[in-house]
Amino acid sequence: RTFNIVCIPGDGIGVDITDAAVQVLTKLSATFGTFTLKFDTVDWSSKNYKQRGYYAPPGGVDGLKKYDAIYFGAVGWPGSSSRHMILPIRTTLNQYANVRPTRILPGTVSPLSACAADPSLLDWVIVRENSEGEYSGHGGTTPSTAHAAHTVATEVSIFTRTGIERIMRFAFETALHRPRRRLTMVTKSNAQRHGMVLWDAIFYEVAREYDGRVAYDKMLVDAMTVRMVNRPGSLDTIVATNLHADILSDLAAALSGSIGIAPSSNLDPTRQFPSMFEPIHGSAPDIAGQGIANPVGAFWSAAEMIRWLAGSDGASNVVGLVDGPGVGNMVGAADCLMKAIANVAENGVKTRDLGGKSTTKEVTDAVCEEIGRV
Ligand code: NAI
Ligand code: MG
Repeated sequence: RTFNIVCIPGDGIGVDITDAAVQVLTKLSATFGTFTLKFDTVDWSSKNYKQRGYYAPPGGVDGLKKYDAIYFGAVGWPGSSSRHMILPIRTTLNQYANVRPTRILPGTVSPLSACAADPSLLDWVIVRENSEGEYSGHGGTTPSTAHAAHTVATEVSIFTRTGIERIMRFAFETALHRPRRRLTMVTKSNAQRHGMVLWDAIFYEVAREYDGRVAYDKMLVDAMTVRMVNRPGSLDTIVATNLHADILSDLAAALSGSIGIAPSSNLDPTRQFPSMFEPIHGSAPDIAGQGIANPVGAFWSAAEMIRWLAGSDGASNVVGLVDGPGVGNMVGAADCLMKAIANVAENGVKTRDLGGKSTTKEVTDAVCEEIGRV
């Protein structure tokens, strides 16, 4: 089967790591031979924005609907806000679940001493609500200039029963299909008495459907940061709001060794529209153009994309279960890619952020070679 993928490389190292991911994916499909990937590329960069006044051209986001998946590098550059581009994609394409797995890959050292000794302690999936909450964009600033001393700005979070219920159900399903079968829900309901309280209530409602199948508990977000550092092995699947999960997943990435290795999937679990896969890091202006960006987060995101496409018959709501009919051995291909990434890192072919000396190209070539071997 052939899958049509559209790439949005974006800015800075987003371009380098997208090139690297396409190279690795091409090698992967050639090696397995049971599925084909066809790539289109669109230039929705900050440079484009400066020249033409937009990231995506009019109708551009709707044009993504004809693809099977979207592969995204990173968008944003000092002086321009990438929010204008990413948020419309997520909302237009119903990508309400943002899934961020975190593990300590071989050859990577966690700053947590317990995890440095036993890397298997840290094995999490953070499920981030991706469509509402604190990033709804509602609010305003008043007055703007005349009475600057009295300026008031509001930032309104919007939570809906529909939005909360669907992310809770997705999180429980994710937890159910993981070895530890544990879900921790994060809010700040002791201080924020409306939206967070509704989150808590709906969590316990949905939890009843999973009683005896998934162990679950609730944390306040501040205490959660402490638990992630002090008792990483007590956590497995984590569900949190747009803002909280954004912050917790950067912490998770740092605890796993480097922001350069962490992947994320923006999923439309209904599979009506294409889902989008991207490393969690940004365009890294400080190292852009030097050829030293870590491509591992991009490769891991690519593996997650393959896993998602494997279930493209819609049989599974959850990342990484089984191949749907007629898709070939795609779960096997995703596993192969992860194994290749791990082997290459273990052999010491690593970029500087992981304490190595290799370039983006050297890591990419090594992973391609390893795919042929494993
Ligand atoms: P960043 O993730 O681009 O960089 C943070 C630090 O991590 C930098 O020191 C960078 O060199 C390092 N780093 C990041 N990825 C790396 C990799 N693959 N290999 C080695 N080192 C890596 O975050 P920052 O600096 O806050 O943002 C830069 C721009 O990127 C901003 O315009 C921001 O809006 C945008 N951004 C875009 C995102 C996206 O497209 N989803 C996500 C985060 C930021
Ligand atoms: Mg972030």
